[in-house]
Amino acid sequence: MNSWSCRKMGVLAATAVFSLTASAASSQDFSIGERLFLENCSACHGNSGRGDGSVGVLFSAQPKSLRSLENDNNGHFPFSEVYQSIKGERNIQAHGIEMPVWGSAFTKDIMSNPFISGPLGEELVQGRILALVYYLQSIQD
Ligand code: HEC
Repeated sequence: MNSWSCRKMGVLAATAVFSLTASAASSQDFSIGERLFLENCSACHGNSGRGDGSVGVLFSAQPKSLRSLENDNNGHFPFSEVYQSIKGERNIQAHGIEMPVWGSAFTKDIMSNPFISGPLGEELVQGRILALVYYLQSIQD
């Protein structure tokens, strides 16, 4: 194979890989948020987000469904309020069970990686919270 066709093959291969990853990304837009939700939230809020998680049912009041946030807010998903609730910037009232402060929990987790510091860490925390908010927006009833 001469060098021109070799280069052409390289470009073709790179294009194929790029379009594969691009289509994988678009068919799984919420996969990061969904994974974060199942790992961190479903114990209380339930796998489906309806408030029927195994921990939640032990308390006097189950967390309410996270799938009705849009309906409860006149058909508009309350994006920034949900962001603030997850980050821990809103006072969430509950009986006997408290919503963890995810802004601090994610910061602690991400900053425990010695290769991550300062602004990058903050962006990664923000990225996790945003992925969760977009995921919740995608599962509204
Ligand atoms: C230890 C149990 C627990 C865990 C784990 C938990 N939550 Fe909560 N969450 C609650 C409780 C309790 C409330 C407040 C009561 C309610 O809204 O019914 C709440 C409220 C919320 C609200 C506010 C709902 C509203 O009415 O505005 C959001 C959004 C939310 N949680 C998202 C999450 C996300 C995302 C995670 C995972 C990163 C998570 N929660 C993990 C217990 C939990």
